[in-house]
Amino acid sequence: MTRIVVLTGAGISAESGVPTFRGADGLWEGHRIEDVATPEAYERNPDTVLAFYDARRRAVEAVAPNAAHRALARLEEAIGGDLLVVTQNVDDLHERAGTRDLVHMHGELRRALCTGCGARPGWEGDLIHRPPCPECGERMLRPDVVWFGEMPYDLDCIENAVVACDVFASIGTSGSVYPAAGFAALAAAFGARTVELNLEPSDALVPFDDARAGPATELVPAWVEELIAART
Ligand code: APR
Repeated sequence: MTRIVVLTGAGISAESGVPTFRGADGLWEGHRIEDVATPEAYERNPDTVLAFYDARRRAVEAVAPNAAHRALARLEEAIGGDLLVVTQNVDDLHERAGTRDLVHMHGELRRALCTGCGARPGWEGDLIHRPPCPECGERMLRPDVVWFGEMPYDLDCIENAVVACDVFASIGTSGSVYPAAGFAALAAAFGARTVELNLEPSDALVPFDDARAGPATELVPAWVEELIAART
């Protein structure tokens, strides 16, 4: 059995209409990342940060998964438990495409985090009006998004899968944010074959065995078909 770990980043959702973080202007939807994606920014200016993520949540609701998300769901259908998708994305396009075995290492827009009791309730609406936490009733909900300086979710589970996999694929990520950016080198150190599918080659720590440049909606379905064909 070939065990596969796929790491995805903003590039896989770009063709669905979700902007990537590091656009040509260095801004994320008109904001500097450090003004909306750090605990310090939230402390300084909670309304700006809450409004920013409320807008992101609504924007994602209005878009749909693309052929790259769907191809990964098809891969899971074909190989089942031998695939783990780890996403840095806070959108829900992988699950809407049908992927089930999925880790949101940087959190999710459709979840809130209570800074009072630690609950992480599913969340559809806005947070700007300070709704009460469904668990403890305190009005201390923030987006359940991992900001710079915070610990990503499920690192143990991810690292166990990365060291045990035979193929590691990095899709649509600039490889500039750790620890995710180190997973490919870790997989390679444990003997995995590494693949990159990205619009342009990233600044990889260790060169990928197979680096393909182009849009995710073309590269990912083609790669998935190759993998499925190789197993049959
Ligand atoms: N197909 C494939 N790749 C694409 C496409 C596309 N259509 N469009 C853009 N890309 C590539 C870009 O070339 C870039 O290398 O996707 C990458 C996106 O990089 P970033 O914007 O840096 O996004 P990501 O790597 O996911 O960021 C990591 O940084 O701000 C934090 O927590 C945030 O999870 C995020 C993390």
